[in-house]
Amino acid sequence: MSQKYFIVTYGCQMNVHESEKIAGILRRMDYVESDKLENADIIVFNTCCIRENAENHAFGNIGALKKLKKQKPETLIAVGGCMTQEKGKTEILRKKFPFIDIMFGTLNLEELESLIKRKKSQKKKVIEIREKEGEIIEFEDAYRTSYPNAWVNITYGCNNFCSYCIVPYVRGRERSRKPEYILAEVEKLVKEGYKEITLLGQNVNSYGADGSTGMTFAQLLDKVASIEGKFRVRFMTSHPKDFNEDVVRVMAKHEKICKLVHLPVQSGSNPVLKAMNRRYTREKYLDEIKMLRSYFPEAEVTTDIIVGFPGETEEDYLQTEALVKEVDFASAFTFVYSKRQGTKAAEMENQIPEEVQKDRIMRLVALVNSLTRKKSEKYVGKTVEILCEDYDEKKGLYLGRDEFGRMGYFASMENKIGEFVQLKVTKANGISLFGEIDQ
Ligand code: SAH
Ligand code: SF4
Ligand code: F3S
Repeated sequence: MSQKYFIVTYGCQMNVHESEKIAGILRRMDYVESDKLENADIIVFNTCCIRENAENHAFGNIGALKKLKKQKPETLIAVGGCMTQEKGKTEILRKKFPFIDIMFGTLNLEELESLIKRKKSQKKKVIEIREKEGEIIEFEDAYRTSYPNAWVNITYGCNNFCSYCIVPYVRGRERSRKPEYILAEVEKLVKEGYKEITLLGQNVNSYGADGSTGMTFAQLLDKVASIEGKFRVRFMTSHPKDFNEDVVRVMAKHEKICKLVHLPVQSGSNPVLKAMNRRYTREKYLDEIKMLRSYFPEAEVTTDIIVGFPGETEEDYLQTEALVKEVDFASAFTFVYSKRQGTKAAEMENQIPEEVQKDRIMRLVALVNSLTRKKSEKYVGKTVEILCEDYDEKKGLYLGRDEFGRMGYFASMENKIGEFVQLKVTKANGISLFGEIDQ
């Protein structure tokens, strides 16, 4: 009988995709998916440490396994992901949860198979966290669970060292995948029937910046979008310091490329941007939006924003609000600044009191929601192309997204997952659209 696995994922798209790679490794080892923790022979936590609450979630859920492990000591418990790469964290995890069997890092994920085998042959726990990034290891058998969407890594790691961010410390320096591997992967996915390809990197615009790939991000994007077939192309994340007109020109050349850019601004205030080490100004950011919309007036932009960064004054915060209104984002992920040990910002004076942070995030969320709602209402009466992604059991409706990432729901007698449908929008509700399709 096959053994069963269960994976718990935290964090960004990159981690979600890495969990697909972990699932690929486990399936190669004759494990099959389980829908219950209790039935699993191995449980893998793929952790995130971007903010304190991400870590707390992981701590809470790993801790909750203590009982299960007592009842079923043969269940293997493995912890990987960004948290294990954090300085001193493996020690803390080990002390807090002595029942963890295996720990592995983001830089040696592909060793998981041998680590599991090793653990099975010894009593001692197996801890293998690679400190320094090596050559990229090409990985063929990810077990994808997100059909019709597929994620494709183009870069790993990050060189930017934004002063608040832990990512460069836990993901190593930026490495770009060779274009031939990326293109072969996309071609294969399109042949297999995937309808949306998202190119992933912490800063996709710096693809090949070290000269190792012989092409820029714009050139790579052009090649990806030139692959034959009906599918969409997305990319994330773009960094405003490197986003440029070459990329927009390629977007204009290909219908396949969604006219949506995820361009995290983080703050609308120049002194805060400087302290964050983002290396662009508010003016540069707004110029980029103008440039993008000069090509496509309908283009949408989504963003990430942090409030309560050390030293952020009320005036700085209001500058962020003003920028949000000016850009009119399609949606925004909003975060309260979270202090990360080892980063520059953690050492800064003028940390902002929690009440002030809370007040600002509440005001910002209200503003973002009101803008998003207004945008959704403009859709009513229009027809949009939706790529159907899933079926919502509770609502009894199919759902998918349009080119601009907006969710659309509709009823259908037939399974439409993986198909493009024309949705006539009859109602908007917050960020979601509801409508009808021709059956
Ligand atoms: N590489 C991407 C983002 C990666 S992390 C970029 O440069 O934009 C995703 C988002 O988490 C960031 O955009 C930022 O808004 C947020 N974030 C990162 N570190 C944070 C911290 N210490 N506190 C709060 N939010 C943080
Ligand atoms: Fe973090 Fe900045 Fe790198 Fe994004 S670009 S991952 S925010 S250091
Ligand atoms: Fe992603 Fe979290 Fe790591 S956001 S890169 S999983 S710290």
